[in-house]
Amino acid sequence: MTTPTTTPHPDTTPTTASHRMPAPQPRGPVSTTLLAALRSGTPDELDPGADGTEPLAPVAAALEAAGIDGPDATAVVLTEDVQLALLVMYELHYRGVDGVDDAWEWHPGLLALRARIERPFEAALRARVPQPECDATDAAGVAARLFRLAADDDSPSLSRYVARKADAAQARELIALRSIYQLKEADPHTWAIPRLSGVPKAALVEIQSDEYGGGHPGHMHHELYARTMRGMGLDDTYGAYLDAAPGVALVAVNAMSLVGLHRRLRGAIVGHLAAYEMTSSIPCRQYSNGLRRLGHGEDVTGYFDEHVEADAVHEQIAGRDLAGRLAEQEPTLRDDVLWGAALCLAVEGDVGAYAMERWQHGESALRAPLPPA
Ligand SMILES: [Fe+2]
Ligand SMILES: [Fe+2]
Repeated sequence: MTTPTTTPHPDTTPTTASHRMPAPQPRGPVSTTLLAALRSGTPDELDPGADGTEPLAPVAAALEAAGIDGPDATAVVLTEDVQLALLVMYELHYRGVDGVDDAWEWHPGLLALRARIERPFEAALRARVPQPECDATDAAGVAARLFRLAADDDSPSLSRYVARKADAAQARELIALRSIYQLKEADPHTWAIPRLSGVPKAALVEIQSDEYGGGHPGHMHHELYARTMRGMGLDDTYGAYLDAAPGVALVAVNAMSLVGLHRRLRGAIVGHLAAYEMTSSIPCRQYSNGLRRLGHGEDVTGYFDEHVEADAVHEQIAGRDLAGRLAEQEPTLRDDVLWGAALCLAVEGDVGAYAMERWQHGESALRAPLPPA
């Protein structure tokens, strides 16, 4: 055993401070009432409210009025308003939200409201993403099926567009848009670690160790991403561009949190990671080429250059030792492993398709164009 020293990692790279996500601008009655309730005090002070009303009652009423329990629930749950509310609820499990007391994280009333959103959300995702068929039950066979799923993905190629055509403003939009996940890169998949055992657990830890810099704070992938942002004149504050992110981007991040936070869905978060890794290496080379074509240097391309190498290794570990072995170890999880992979390809593909569509019409892929660098 090595003896810990007082300076275990003399890494001099500047890293971002740990802070809460700034409270976002509400996008409708559900997110308005939720943010108002969460920011009005601690649950203890408010529960039941000083005037005898339960502080979350207006949120429940807004959800009901939106139709969360009705026949169109799977459409209601995908609106920007409800997705933003869900993202705020999930954020309490990550870094927290400015002005929101930490005790809200495990408030039973809030968890009950979240479940009311999650039920139709999972149903909407299951309807959007069909269960991939698979005959294999062994690790190698399941891994091969995952690689085929990733190879067959026919979403429009955002990375090829960035490599060849994107202009400077579109490249900045893309980096801002992706930041709502990339500044917490790897965190949703980390929830799976205590829920696995044996080979799949060791494989996930091996991947996550790279994602978190292998002990070097400045090499953490979310830190490399922050560096890219700074190099492009963007604000690297955690959550800085949440208000700019369209609903489709919120769905992609919330889908990750949903399958990450529920142990029942551990197969799906593992499959999600496998697909993410399998569709990263070549696109990252294209993003890097595109950013270089636009005149950027290593400070900006470093994040993508790192992933060209790292994810070529990660996709092998994720496919065979993590996802394949988990499906072999717990056969009842196999279908969710495959579905989680298909989910990743679908929701990430939706974000790319949305951005390309907007750009083709000469519009911003964000809710409001960014101020110039
Ligand atoms: Fe990464
Ligand atoms: Fe990776």
